[in-house]
Amino acid sequence: MDEIKEKYDYEPFADTEEYREVNEACIHGWIEIMRRKGLSGIEAILDVATGAGTMVQIVFDQLPASWKKAAVMCLDQSSEALRLAQSKLEKTVERLKLVHSSVEDMTIPDASIDVAVWGNGIHYLSEQEQLDSIKRIKQALKPGGLFFFNTAFYEEARPAETLGFYRTQVKNAVQYLRDRGISRQRNDSRTEASKFLPRSYYEQLVKEAGFKLVEVKEYAVDMRREAWEYISSFQQYAAGALRGYPVDAAVEAMKEAVQPALEQHGNRDQKGNLYITRKWLAISTQA
Ligand SMILES: C[S@@+](CC[C@H](N)C(=O)[O-])C[C@H]1O[C@@H](n2cnc3c(N)ncnc32)[C@H](O)[C@@H]1O
Repeated sequence: MDEIKEKYDYEPFADTEEYREVNEACIHGWIEIMRRKGLSGIEAILDVATGAGTMVQIVFDQLPASWKKAAVMCLDQSSEALRLAQSKLEKTVERLKLVHSSVEDMTIPDASIDVAVWGNGIHYLSEQEQLDSIKRIKQALKPGGLFFFNTAFYEEARPAETLGFYRTQVKNAVQYLRDRGISRQRNDSRTEASKFLPRSYYEQLVKEAGFKLVEVKEYAVDMRREAWEYISSFQQYAAGALRGYPVDAAVEAMKEAVQPALEQHGNRDQKGNLYITRKWLAISTQA
């Protein structure tokens, strides 16, 4: 499990057009909420599970010019992620602080943050860890502070008409492994990334942690081959889909299985590219 966490493999997916566009749309909505709530500037932003710093980059692209002096705290449990975030953000963010910690154990001074963002990462945690983390985030926020998060790993992320794509991909991936004589080694317990919690669960979760729910939105994203290949290459994704197989082989098999599954189940966009629609959940809350 530690090995899975340490190997950093999110960046190629974060660089796809689909990923960029959906996160831009989420953040556009969140900045609208900041304005509606009467914010006219931000002193401190916390970016939870910052990865390569994509969320901060997009926030800074979209913030009104006069708000861009905010101090930014990027938190991640991966030191490699923090190195990437620093090299991406040092030109954009004047006051950048990197925090190497898991979110559930973070020690950020109470009531010191105006806005917290947690992009594309909440689903990696167990339900208890999520609750503990969101409570920690609430403590770190000033009273009335805003907390936003999004995820494409929740129950409604895979519309019913797209389930055939996932089944075919896994079936083809298992066949790919069998053809190479690779068999299941052990019966792994479910990884968190393969456990899809419903939208209603996340709505309850933030309330349980003491937040007021401000807005819940879902975005439909038409994802093409390259994006599916990158997402399938996440070690946790492949390990969740092909439990018990050696992880590197599972990654390879899941990636190879994308195109045939797209050919069988995909729709075509105006340029003739095959796609499968995935949904993103975006939740806005206030402390
Ligand atoms: C898919 S990336 C998302 C990166 C970025 N927030 C974005 O939206 O593009 C998930 C990140 O969560 C981090 N992560 C996973 N579990 C974590 C935890 N418990 N505490 C802190 N970071 C965590 C990983 O190291 C990784 O950088």
